Amino acid sequence: MKTTVTAVRARQIWDSRGRPTVEAEVTLAGGAYGRAHAPAGASRGAHEAWELRDGGPRFGGLGVDGAVAAVNGEIAARLAGLDATDQAGIDAAMTELDGTANLSRLGANAIVAVSLAVLDAAAAGSGLARWAYLAAGRKVRMPLPEIQIFGGGAHAGRRTDVQDFMIMAPRAGSIREAFEIAADVFRAAGTLMADTGRLAGAADEGGWWPMFASNEEALDTLVQSIERSGHRPGEDVFISLDVAANELHAEGRYRLGLDDADFGREGMVERVADWVRRYPILSIEDPVSQDDLQGFRLATEAFAATTQLIGDDILVTDAARVRRAAAAGAGNAVLVKVNQAGTVSRAKAALDAARSLSWGAIVSARSGETEDVSIAHLAVGWDAGQIKVGSFARSERMAKWNELLRIEEAMGADAVYAGPSAFAPSVAETLR
Ligand code: PGA
Ligand code: ZN
Repeated sequence: MKTTVTAVRARQIWDSRGRPTVEAEVTLAGGAYGRAHAPAGASRGAHEAWELRDGGPRFGGLGVDGAVAAVNGEIAARLAGLDATDQAGIDAAMTELDGTANLSRLGANAIVAVSLAVLDAAAAGSGLARWAYLAAGRKVRMPLPEIQIFGGGAHAGRRTDVQDFMIMAPRAGSIREAFEIAADVFRAAGTLMADTGRLAGAADEGGWWPMFASNEEALDTLVQSIERSGHRPGEDVFISLDVAANELHAEGRYRLGLDDADFGREGMVERVADWVRRYPILSIEDPVSQDDLQGFRLATEAFAATTQLIGDDILVTDAARVRRAAAAGAGNAVLVKVNQAGTVSRAKAALDAARSLSWGAIVSARSGETEDVSIAHLAVGWDAGQIKVGSFARSERMAKWNELLRIEEAMGADAVYAGPSAFAPSVAETLR
């Protein structure tokens, strides 16, 4: 068969932070070829699939020789002869071969790179772009992007407590128009920082370095940036925050160092709810820590009827966790990071769980990225409705945004921007 896997290979490459990561290549009998890279997080959830690093003194312990060897040895041997169009079968073969629940033996970084490369090769073998191969003839929407303007938290030496200060343009007419708005706001924010003597470079995902004296000053500056760009906060441009509160949590307390404030669960939820009341915020991610399901439930009661509430570190792209959270009345959207799940199939299962609950789903990059554009195709082909890639600068981010422009153009008259339909129903209603 033309789509039979004939070769799987890996090598070490370098990511956007100058750290080693895994590149996998897959070749099929008919000559089709696929390639993909493992991304890497900085603010990682404890329940994520395991990224295998070599340890030791070399590259600060971040080497991936073990993961590369796992691909070139056991994984290559196991996948040879399998059909690349059977993604579920290939992913199951790798997870069974690994034998651990969190893929720690062979490494989720090894497995995810191969899983994504198999998808790339299978699409190539079918003569289709990955998004079209995944859509398989179904109508799919262009995703609504969350675009970072200021980076903070673990991505900026903890200069602010909140990790991502982002914007969303749900009322744009197309993703192309959403990017034009983001470009305006990103530029205006940079000018504003320069004019006020606060321009100090960029954070991990390319957003402006957050030279702020409080988390609210960051929010105020974001609102001013939207205004200075000629757009209207709360009308055409909204704020989206990833609090990444895991990083603020220790021994049952939350600490906002920049605000010199210390909270229990209720206090933390109330602080975020207060921001939601006072700023044009449409989406909040991880307002409490990865094991604080009760805090997520409180946040849901406080503001999720009208605001998107995304679980990242608490859900770790796991279908069972999505269902459990929904049953507990916690959250209304899931962040989908393929490397958190470990395989394309597991990530898709988390997305399907969200969809069956009428939750939102956001396909997301990691803070450590490469030029790989797989997630642009997943977001479109899976009809996820939303995508989060980082800022509007630096090529590991722009590669994904630019790929989405190509996809939108390829769709031609069929291209539909998800807009408000990307959100859980009660949130979408606030935009109508
Ligand atoms: P990470 O951050 O890739 O560093 O985990 C991204 C996020 O928290 O959404
Ligand atoms: Zn997050």
